[in-house]
Amino acid sequence: MISSPSIRAFHPSRGTMSIRPATLNDLYRILDLEQKTFTETAFSRATFLYYMHSDSSRVQVIEYEGVLAGYVVYTFRAEPLTVYVDSVAVRPEYRRQGMGRRMMDEVRDAAAGHGAQCIKLHVRASNERAIDFYIALGYERAGGVDSYYRDGEDACIMRLDLSD
Ligand SMILES: CC(C)(COP(=O)(O)OP(=O)(O)OC[C@H]1O[C@@H](n2cnc3c(N)ncnc32)[C@H](O)[C@@H]1OP(=O)(O)O)[C@@H](O)C(=O)NCCC(=O)NCCS
Repeated sequence: MISSPSIRAFHPSRGTMSIRPATLNDLYRILDLEQKTFTETAFSRATFLYYMHSDSSRVQVIEYEGVLAGYVVYTFRAEPLTVYVDSVAVRPEYRRQGMGRRMMDEVRDAAAGHGAQCIKLHVRASNERAIDFYIALGYERAGGVDSYYRDGEDACIMRLDLSD
């Protein structure tokens, strides 16, 4: 069982951001953002419910001035302990304000706190913005998987080593 993270808040130049575990009341807004962001490959309601109830996964939301601005889903996998980022998204109007970085910092803190050796994720090879985002956060390319996505697109694997 993974312990729940504390609610964190800070005050950027224009308002208050906070990160907290998602609740069932957030599901509609999470699904709306997921579907608008990932369209055909969007996770379903059932998939989010699975993650929210899994002992090894977390769904965290970021709020800005009380508005759900983004979410991240991640899972602890054993042997060796690795954290896998299953999904992360920020609403378009809130991007480039540090919210993605704050959520990924939360993932890194949780991973390090549980002794994970690294964080990994798959990203579409064409999603250069997301790849730039992960590189800005210290992730490195760690290979790829041909035809990983349902539509045949290849995936890049991004990895952050936590062993240092
Ligand atoms: C990827 C995503 C989560 C980033 O969230 P964000 O809140 O905009 O990211 P941040 O503001 O925290 O960016 C942190 C740094 O990452 C880099 N970065 C972020 N977005 C970038 C972009 N579009 N192009 C280039 N670099 C980018 C920058 O270095 C940025 O720092 P800076 O703004 O000071 O230059 C967001 O763009 C998103 O939701 N995209 C659609 C969903 C998606 O592709 N998810 C990833 C699937 S694997």
